[in-house]
Amino acid sequence: MSPAADGPGRTLAGVALEHPLLNAAGTARTLDEVARLARSAVAAVTVGSYTLGERAGNGGEVYASREGYAVNALGMPNRGAAQLREELPRMAELAHAGGKPLVVSVAGFAPGEYGELAGLAAAGGADLVELNLGCPNVWDDGAQKRIASFDPALVAASVAAAADASVPVGVKLSPLADPVLLAEVAAAVGASTARFVVSCNTFPNGLALRPDGRPALDVRFGGVSGGAMKPIVLGQVAQLRAALPHAVDVVGVGGVRRGSDVHDLLQVGATAVGLATAFWDRGEDPAVFGDLLADWVA
Ligand SMILES: Cc1cc2nc3c(=O)[nH]c(=O)nc-3n(C[C@H](O)[C@H](O)[C@H](O)COP(=O)(O)O)c2cc1C
Repeated sequence: MSPAADGPGRTLAGVALEHPLLNAAGTARTLDEVARLARSAVAAVTVGSYTLGERAGNGGEVYASREGYAVNALGMPNRGAAQLREELPRMAELAHAGGKPLVVSVAGFAPGEYGELAGLAAAGGADLVELNLGCPNVWDDGAQKRIASFDPALVAASVAAAADASVPVGVKLSPLADPVLLAEVAAAVGASTARFVVSCNTFPNGLALRPDGRPALDVRFGGVSGGAMKPIVLGQVAQLRAALPHAVDVVGVGGVRRGSDVHDLLQVGATAVGLATAFWDRGEDPAVFGDLLADWVA
């Protein structure tokens, strides 16, 4: 299917998209990065994840790319609410000048924080707000935090806290391997005001090694992304599409490297498709979006 055949009318939570290809969260956080994406072929510009407080992120080696997969533990470095207040309006201007909606990914550590962050994002000009409930790489005081999307009640409470945002809100989930839990999370999302689901964040706590057997990442474990995620995300999107109400859109993210990956995710019910690792592995070159689009059309 070509973008032309795709036709006008593709929307994500009611927001028009020229075509289905998005950058996934984690690939842009600064004004410069937004400006570069705004000039690229991507259909919307996604920024974040932003937290309320400033975060330095994890130290040392935080990204390891291997044949067919990558492992990362960036730990969401960002300048926090100050950055949202100071830079989001300009980010929205840049994205809109490029004819693209702005998606803002936020990550709280309690439902109330999601509410506050969603309000800040909407006030700053976001067209869509993505609640990142699936980040596996958050360490504080040597301990790893709970991944919110494994707790259906926490998912429901986080969306409820953001219900007053003036723009559509969606949730980004961790891959849910247990089918019963997936059904419970889908039921919680379906009963909430969430308008879209992004599936999925990285697969938690993978381990990549250096040739000498030491962990490639300084915090040891990291989220698995890239090609290895393709069958996982296809399965997640297909199951979520079947379990969610029709009005909730599903965005497929994981292992998208070529046009056939876009095609396959749309086939199983994704409304849009995002990528991160393919962008990182191209040296953060936004031309990856135009190339992938051309490969999808071909
Ligand atoms: C280096 C890196 C940083 C990421 N940072 C974020 C983030 O801040 N927020 C988020 O929701 N997802 C983040 N992700 C997850 C991606 O958005 C995406 O869900 C995941 O990598 C799977 O897609 P991919 O196979 O195309 O990379 C990050 C991924 C990578 C590789």
